[in-house]
Amino acid sequence: MYLKSMENAYSLEGKNCIITGGAKGIGLGITTAFAHQGANVAIFARDEASAAKVIEEYNARYKGEFSFYKTDVGNTASCREAVQAYMNDHDRIDVLVNNAGIGTAGPFMDMDEELTDWFECFNIDLHGAARMCYYVLKYMREQKSGHIVNITSNAGEIINKPFLTAYAASKAAFNHFTKCLAAETAPYGIRVNAIAPGFTFSNFSKGIPDEVYKSLCEDIPIDRFAEAFEIGALAAYLAGDISDIVTGAVFTADGGYALQH
Ligand SMILES: NC(=O)c1ccc[n+]([C@@H]2O[C@H](COP(=O)([O-])OP(=O)(O)OC[C@H]3O[C@@H](n4cnc5c(N)ncnc54)[C@H](OP(=O)(O)O)[C@@H]3O)[C@@H](O)[C@H]2O)c1
Repeated sequence: MYLKSMENAYSLEGKNCIITGGAKGIGLGITTAFAHQGANVAIFARDEASAAKVIEEYNARYKGEFSFYKTDVGNTASCREAVQAYMNDHDRIDVLVNNAGIGTAGPFMDMDEELTDWFECFNIDLHGAARMCYYVLKYMREQKSGHIVNITSNAGEIINKPFLTAYAASKAAFNHFTKCLAAETAPYGIRVNAIAPGFTFSNFSKGIPDEVYKSLCEDIPIDRFAEAFEIGALAAYLAGDISDIVTGAVFTADGGYALQH
C-alpha cells in the first residue's frame, strides 16, 4: 500500500506490535509513543516485574492492549517459544521493534582471551535481533506485510572514546543487517529500518554526576541527551503507514553528535 492522505497517517490504532525490552529505558519510550498512537503492544523481555507494572498502568490509561511475553533474546528457544505464544493469542504481527540490548564498554585488547564480553555483546545486541527477525518474519512473509524497526546506535558509525569496540562493531553489523533484510523482504511488502540513537536518558545514564553530563553535552551540538520518548516518536513514524516509502534506512538520532566524530 502507499500513502494517499495525511488523515490518520501517524495512527497505529489496532496494530499488533512487539517491542523487545519495552518496559525500560528507550524501550519504554517506544512503548509510550506507540501507546499514544493507539497500538497494541506486547513487551518481550526478561524482567516480569517491571513489565507487569507498565502493562497494568498502560491497559488502564490507553486504548490499546498491553501484554508481556517472557523472552531472553540471547536464547533461540526462548525467542521461538515467545513468538509462538504470541501467535497463539493473536492473528498477526504488524510491527517488531528490536530494542533489547546491552552496552559493552572498553577496548578490544582489554578483553579476556575467550573474548567473553565480545560474544555476549554480539549474542544479545545482534544475534538477539536476528533471532527475533527470523521467527517474526516467518509470519510477516505469510501476511505479506509488516514493519521492523531496529534500535542500533551512533556508535555503529563513529569511533567512540572511551572505546566501545565490541558494542560498536555489533551495532555497525546491525545497521548493515537492516539494509540487507530490507532488500530481502521488500518483495513480501515488509519494511525494515533502523534508528541509531546517541546519548539517551535510560538506566545507563542514571546517576551520572552533573559535571560529567555537562562535559558529555559539550560534544552534542544540541547540548543535551535525548529523551527515550523522542526515540519512540521516530520509531512510531517508522512503524506507521506514514513512512511507507522508507526502507533500508538508518536514522541517526543523536542531536548531531556523530557529525563531529
Ligand atoms: N541509552 C543510550 O544512550 C543508547 C544509545 C544508543 C543506543 N542505545 C540502544 O538502545 C537500546 C535500549 O537501551 P537502553 O539505553 O534503553 O538500555 P536499558 O535501559 O539498560 O534497557 C535495556 C533493555 O533491554 C532488555 N534486555 C537486555 N537484555 C535482554 C535479553 N537478553 N533478553 C530480552 N531483553 C533484554 C532489558 O529488559 P529486561 O531487563 O526486562 O530483560 C531492557 O528493557 C539498546 O539496544 C542500546 O544499545 C542506547
